[in-house]
Amino acid sequence: MRTPFIAGNWKMHKTRAEARDLAAALKEQLSGVSHRLLVAPTFTSIETVATVLEGSNILVGAQNMAAARSGAHTGEISPDMLKDVGAQVVILGHSERRHVYGETDELINTKVQLALEEGLEVILCIGETLDEREAGQVDQVNRRQLTGGLAGVDAGAMGRITIAYEPVWAIGTGKTATPEDADTTHAAVRSIMADLYDQSVADAVVIQYGGSVKLDNVAGLMAKPNIDGALVGGASLKADTFVPIAQFDS
Ligand code: PGA
Repeated sequence: MRTPFIAGNWKMHKTRAEARDLAAALKEQLSGVSHRLLVAPTFTSIETVATVLEGSNILVGAQNMAAARSGAHTGEISPDMLKDVGAQVVILGHSERRHVYGETDELINTKVQLALEEGLEVILCIGETLDEREAGQVDQVNRRQLTGGLAGVDAGAMGRITIAYEPVWAIGTGKTATPEDADTTHAAVRSIMADLYDQSVADAVVIQYGGSVKLDNVAGLMAKPNIDGALVGGASLKADTFVPIAQFDS
């Protein structure tokens, strides 16, 4: 049985004071929710948010991480630094990291392995661009990103990895895949996981959908058998919009 996992990616939004207020509102309003919950603030607000959410049912994550433990990496943040400020999870391979900042599967794989070695949980994002979708390459792109991103990660570590399928054309655009379309792709992702690992890993892996998830589409998506959660961007920035998504069937 896969526990529903709803995560908010705050991207490059919120000062510490704003992040503190949102975290405090979420802590209060989501206290009875039994789904797995996570928020991922910017690096500068992680400690503030982790302090507010201590002892709550909401995990704290980072949106990215360096591919090295320490050293001459100007502008980067190491896994130890993330743990030091209270992050338990790290989102890796987000489409903005891939397509705006040029992260490759190889780089993402180095980060995935390092995060796992350092005891962080990982949300690994995958998904196709509009051009790739129109060229009929959805499964091929997902297979390439999963094979590359998970290279060298053994089945024993898969319990600490969540996959987020986020079609790039649906992120921040107001366009969502239909629940049927998303479920078909999630089923294909699960079968890729069976090829890469085995059926028990494929059956256990939590696969979130991301891309313009909102209150009016979350229930339809979550009703599908292969959709286990959501990675929410824009609608995670206010308690009014994130709370009902996180509570979707309570
Ligand atoms: P969105 O972002 O919900 O604003 O489309 C999702 C994401 O990028 O994780």
